[in-house]
Amino acid sequence: MIRVMTMKDYAAVLALWKDGNIPSRPKGRDSKKNIASQLQQPNCYFLVAVSGGKIIGAVVGTHDGRKGWINRLVVASSYQKKGIGRRLVATVEQYFSAQGIDIVACLIEEWNTVSMKVFEQLGYTKHTDIFYYSKRKSPKT
Ligand SMILES: CC(C)(COP(=O)(O)OP(=O)(O)OC[C@H]1O[C@@H](n2cnc3c(N)ncnc32)[C@H](O)[C@@H]1OP(=O)(O)O)[C@@H](O)C(=O)NCCC(=O)NCCS
Repeated sequence: MIRVMTMKDYAAVLALWKDGNIPSRPKGRDSKKNIASQLQQPNCYFLVAVSGGKIIGAVVGTHDGRKGWINRLVVASSYQKKGIGRRLVATVEQYFSAQGIDIVACLIEEWNTVSMKVFEQLGYTKHTDIFYYSKRKSPKT
């Protein structure tokens, strides 16, 4: 089952990100307070996949009014390669589409060749001519 994340899922989702080697910022933008606030925002669509009452997958969807972003896609290792990641992404894409947003993007770290293969299988095109720049008010926590 795929459903919208609630704060009751917070610890399980953070644990999944950790197990999936997905960098998270539990003292920064992924703190309990910040995630609780993000879950209330209309442009944030955070989903979890649940099996037998256990959180086995998650994805963070956000949009900026122009483009949709898929972040932090993760499926517990014993549930991988069963189509759960594909369903999580498809559900976020449907939400974006309902908001009138037809471009969906994701950022993948250079080492994560599995994730690249997965997103290519899901119809995403790799851009090798773009570099990611960011500006932060405070150091990473
Ligand atoms: C990326 C991840 C979420 C994929 O989840 P999943 O549930 O295993 O993916 P699915 O079973 O839905 O597979 C989707 C497609 O990717 C392919 N795929 C899945 N795992 C793959 C792998 N290890 N290598 C190559 N292709 C793979 C599948 O074959 C499928 O394509 P198909 O339907 O055409 O056969 C999972 O591997 C994961 O949690 N990885 C660790 C966290 C991570 O790196 N997340 C990405 C951050 S950007």
